[in-house]
Amino acid sequence: MTRPARSLATAPIMVLNGPNLNLLGLRQPDVYGHATLADVEALCTRTAAAHGGTVDFRQSNHEGELVDWIHEARLDHLGVVINPAAYSHTSVALLDALNACDGLPVVEVHISNVHRREAFRHHSYVSQRADGVIAGCGIQGYAFGVERVVALAVERAAAG
Ligand code: DQA
Repeated sequence: MTRPARSLATAPIMVLNGPNLNLLGLRQPDVYGHATLADVEALCTRTAAAHGGTVDFRQSNHEGELVDWIHEARLDHLGVVINPAAYSHTSVALLDALNACDGLPVVEVHISNVHRREAFRHHSYVSQRADGVIAGCGIQGYAFGVERVVALAVERAAAG
C-alpha cells in the first residue's frame, strides 16, 4: 500500500506515552528522573520546531486508546515516537496496530535502560516493528526519537 505524501509542514509527529507516564517526575524518580511529562512535551515540541515540524503529544493508561491513536497516526501523521511503557512487554495489540502502518517511521523510546533491569523488561513486542529503539538516555531519548522520525520521513519522501 502506498502512503499519500506527508511533509513536516503539514503532518505532525505523534508522540505516544503509555501507562503510568502521566506520573513522570513523581513515580520512581531514581529510575525515571524528576522531569515531568509536560517537560517531555516541551522538549519534543522544541525538537520538532527546529525542523519546521510539530508534535501531537498524548498519554493514555488504556491499551485500546493507544491502538486507536496509532490508527490515527496511520492516516494523518509523519511518524510515531512511542514509549509504550509496560505495554511494550505485553501488547500484541500495539504491535499489530503498528504493523498496520506500512512505511510509517516508528521509533520506540524507553527512559530507563530496560536491559539493565528485570528480565521481563528485556523483551518488547513493539521493537519488532520499530525502525529504531532508544533506551537509557533519560527524557533526551524522546528528542533523539523525534530527530530520527524526521530523518526517516525525509529519507523516505526523497526515495518516493
Ligand atoms: C519504560 C520502561 C518500562 O519497562 C516500564 O514499564 C515503564 C517505562 C521506560 O520509559 O523506561 O513504564 O518504558
